[in-house]
Amino acid sequence: MTVRIAPSILSADFAKLADDLAMLESGGADWIHVDVMDGRFVPNLTFGAKVIETVRRCTSLPIDVHLMVVEPEHYFDDFAKAGADVLTIHAEAAPHLDRQLARIRELGVKAGVALNPATPLDAVREIAAQLDLLLIMTVNPGYGGQKFIDYTVDKIARARQLLTAVGSHAVLEVDGGVSRSTIARCWRAGADTFVAGNAVFTAENPRAEIGMLRDLCSVAV
Ligand code: DX5
Ligand code: ZN
Repeated sequence: MTVRIAPSILSADFAKLADDLAMLESGGADWIHVDVMDGRFVPNLTFGAKVIETVRRCTSLPIDVHLMVVEPEHYFDDFAKAGADVLTIHAEAAPHLDRQLARIRELGVKAGVALNPATPLDAVREIAAQLDLLLIMTVNPGYGGQKFIDYTVDKIARARQLLTAVGSHAVLEVDGGVSRSTIARCWRAGADTFVAGNAVFTAENPRAEIGMLRDLCSVAV
């Protein structure tokens, strides 16, 4: 299975975002993860369409937008126009998942659903076949640099089983506390795409860290 490393720009230095994006790209990042927070679904507040547009101008890598917002449907059009390749909404914030996933796909964008650590996998069971991406949160969303929650590994494994059972080729992504000491467990459990903010940006050599994280997956097979 392909390993995708998706560095989160939440931990980037916004005074030199273009340089950081170039560094990530030259380090072999597969996707750029953009964390949109509204101060309501999560306590923190981050960025909107303008920043996605800026990222789009700075890189040709796919832009993976994680919407930690209530009523995410208000942002689909603007974010698609700004250049998002994937829009992931939270099951806890979006009661009409079927309609909203369809709307995202209508805009020509890949549609994902994220689950908080405490949200059961059952929240996506009925629409598993409609997913382009399933995101299992391995921390409580809101901030970078938090500690990986161990019990989520079992949910990753069950998520992989669910996708296989419905014949889905959806991406299985994990987000939060992914580092040298946690990535292999997630990979073995069946994740293929790994968001990493703190681990990359606080590394001694952020550029090399991307390859380091990727290598830990292949040796873990
Ligand atoms: C958490 C965000 C993450 C975050 C991950 O709310 O969704 O994408 O940036 O950061 P690290 O890798 O620092 O835990
Ligand atoms: Zn995220």
